[in-house]
Amino acid sequence: MRSLIKQLNQKFIIAIEKYHSIGLDLPENLVFPASNPQFGDYQCNIALSLAKKVGDKPRNIAQKIIDNLEIDEFCLPPEIAGAGFINLTLKKEYLENSLEQLLKTSLAQAIDKVDIPQKIIVDFSSPNIAKEMHVGHLRSTIIGDCLARVLEFRGHDVLRLNHVGDWGTQFGMLIAYLTEAYPDALTKPDALDLGDLVNFYKKAKERFDHDEPFKEIARLEVVKLQSGDSNSLKAWNLLCQQSRQEFQKIYNILDISLIERGESFYNPYLGHIIELLRSQQLLEENQGAHCVFLEGFNNKDGQPLPLIVQKSDGGYNYATTDLAALEYRVLKDGVDKIIYVTDAGQCDHFAQVFQVAKKAKILTQKVEAIHVPFGLVQGEDGKKLKTRSGETVKLKDLLTEAVKRARDDLQTRLLEENRTETQDFIDEVAQKVGIGAVKYADLSQNRISNYIFSFDKMLALQGNTAPYMLYAYARIQGINRENQVNQQFITTSSPQIILEDETEVILAKALLELPEVLEQVERELQPNRLCEYLYELSRKFNKFYENCQVLKSNEPLRSSRLGLCYLTANTLRLGLSLLGIKTLERM
Ligand code: ARG
Repeated sequence: MRSLIKQLNQKFIIAIEKYHSIGLDLPENLVFPASNPQFGDYQCNIALSLAKKVGDKPRNIAQKIIDNLEIDEFCLPPEIAGAGFINLTLKKEYLENSLEQLLKTSLAQAIDKVDIPQKIIVDFSSPNIAKEMHVGHLRSTIIGDCLARVLEFRGHDVLRLNHVGDWGTQFGMLIAYLTEAYPDALTKPDALDLGDLVNFYKKAKERFDHDEPFKEIARLEVVKLQSGDSNSLKAWNLLCQQSRQEFQKIYNILDISLIERGESFYNPYLGHIIELLRSQQLLEENQGAHCVFLEGFNNKDGQPLPLIVQKSDGGYNYATTDLAALEYRVLKDGVDKIIYVTDAGQCDHFAQVFQVAKKAKILTQKVEAIHVPFGLVQGEDGKKLKTRSGETVKLKDLLTEAVKRARDDLQTRLLEENRTETQDFIDEVAQKVGIGAVKYADLSQNRISNYIFSFDKMLALQGNTAPYMLYAYARIQGINRENQVNQQFITTSSPQIILEDETEVILAKALLELPEVLEQVERELQPNRLCEYLYELSRKFNKFYENCQVLKSNEPLRSSRLGLCYLTANTLRLGLSLLGIKTLERM
């Protein structure tokens, strides 16, 4: 199944070139979904913007485009409205044929892949060693995973990278504290169980802030670590290992796969970055630090702001590492595109790094680097998310709580409905609903906005929530089960699709829309577009199911309608899986 909008677009380009072939320099997208269903399904407004270039009235241009347009296969004769808008309405036969085709293959295979697959890095999650993985990292993990899934599905070669913060001066303090508080850790295997690393970090920091001799030891540890001292490296490894285990628990719960390539990986390349910048005369000295002056970033006094790449003590920083990572990804990984998913607080950082990378020709025209920012996670009071006692919320606790609440809701429902279910069933539903709810609540927001974390809202059965979507899916699967609508039924009966009722036509159009929604998610990197689509689809299905007899209608209508149920379920399952959400056959 090819994206319909793309096919129509193609037809318009051909038509315009036929009638006026010289240098019109057309925009990439000529066809859009109709702004109002009253005007049909799609519209093209190009005639208005061509008027000046062509020297004719928009309505005349629109007519000439239509004269050359070959879209009979898809649409009723196009209409010209108002000043020169071209309105398109899909033909019923086209919808019916397309759905019949769709029933003949698996949906995932039927949807077209990109023409030219790219190598794309999605840099996401990226927590910091020995520090807490906070709700910001949770957002990055959920959004990054969804974008990676969509890009993979579209046929790209995606490298999912976890750019963990595993290097930097804080390790001096951590190693110094480790040697002091756990002297056996380095010599005896398994002597170390730091458990709560965050607490360990706090204690180390306290020693560092209040004890001068300790501070000095910590400083020496940094130097030892950077010079590759084997004991320091061993201690560093132990700390990383402990954190990694904690992070992995979260990734397992969320079903996230990632390749760790932390900041330390780029350590050997940092010196080269400085040399490169120097050789291109981009490096300037400013109060002992080496930096590159930026365009478009000024300090309070309007003076250009520098991006520091080497501190006065010779140390490198976050930006230097990102420059080295960029060069490595371009040259060694051979990427076409890099997507960084972090909170909006890092917008300036990435804009600055990209600017310097372009100046230094690390980033060339062939490679696209995109920062995908997102807003803050807030508590229901609109402030930073905290526990009742005012502490920061631990991710593991937050996910456990979501599953617990989903379980409570389920148990209440079972009681009300007088149902008994096995423990396995209850566990599975609670897990999938709880985790699905956390993910969906995040993905269904416009990611730029701050988002209010509310268990009650995300677990509600009504509205644009995971439970609603999962329930809609399970309900359709119930209908399918009851009527033995499965792959075998579809293959043996290959139902004819007949769209009789208006609600069926609307549902059919929605079912055929998935490819263009996925293209849009790829283009705009906005998962909420997919959520909106799935929500609309399930609402359109409900309207259809309310209005149309399915089981009681006569053949061939009955099979046609069962075919629509089958396609809706498949579309919901596929869409949810691209959001990283697992469906339930029953709940
Ligand atoms: N570790 C960083 C943080 O916790 C995020 C890293 C994002 N990726 C990158 N290449 N800078 O904020």
